[in-house]
Amino acid sequence: MKGLFIAIEGPDGSGKSTIVKKISKMLNIDKINHITTREPGGIDIAEQIRNIILNPNNTAMDAKTEALLYAASRRQHLVEKVIPALKNNKIVLCERFVESSLAYQGHGRNLGINEVFSINQFAIEDVMPDLTVFLDISPEVGLSRIASRSSLDRLDLETIDFHKRAYVGYETVKKMFKDRIIVVDANRELESVVNDVYKIIVNKIRG
Ligand code: TMP
Repeated sequence: MKGLFIAIEGPDGSGKSTIVKKISKMLNIDKINHITTREPGGIDIAEQIRNIILNPNNTAMDAKTEALLYAASRRQHLVEKVIPALKNNKIVLCERFVESSLAYQGHGRNLGINEVFSINQFAIEDVMPDLTVFLDISPEVGLSRIASRSSLDRLDLETIDFHKRAYVGYETVKKMFKDRIIVVDANRELESVVNDVYKIIVNKIRG
């Protein structure tokens, strides 16, 4: 079996973390060698960058600074964790990747999807997921799901308009990468969503 890079994308509150945990258990039962990780974060340096980006006190952060910090954390996570795992023939299941930057910074922050993609190229050097599963949920429903969390980060606390722009950004991203993005309706019972995502992933692994 060869390594595969699989990204799980979607708006805040789409269920990425819960779904990735459940998928990982199912992959373990099926003895499929994999790691799970997340962006921004996944390793110490990138988690430190995550804390800077998402600290609710950092209200002065400029949009380009934000985009560059996401790209910096992405770079470190890629070289320190993702690429070595792929070289060891592992399946890498990653919550978020460059598509998030295109949607949130490119469209949400109005920096331009192409501009944000080009600064990210310096960081990722053409490494892209083999498959991206997009958990589709409206920003309104997503945000209402996370509203009861004890701590909300700087991006969670952004306006609904920002989250709506990010969602519209994802629409463009889906078209840009239509050959490797699969959309799953995430506004359903968790078990059905998990089962659908699992089937998609296993189909890809089994080629
Ligand atoms: P998380 O809550 O899914 O862990 O992600 C943290 C926040 O960061 C979430 O609101 C989405 C945002 N984000 C971006 O704006 N750009 C990015 O490139 C990434 C990876 C996340």
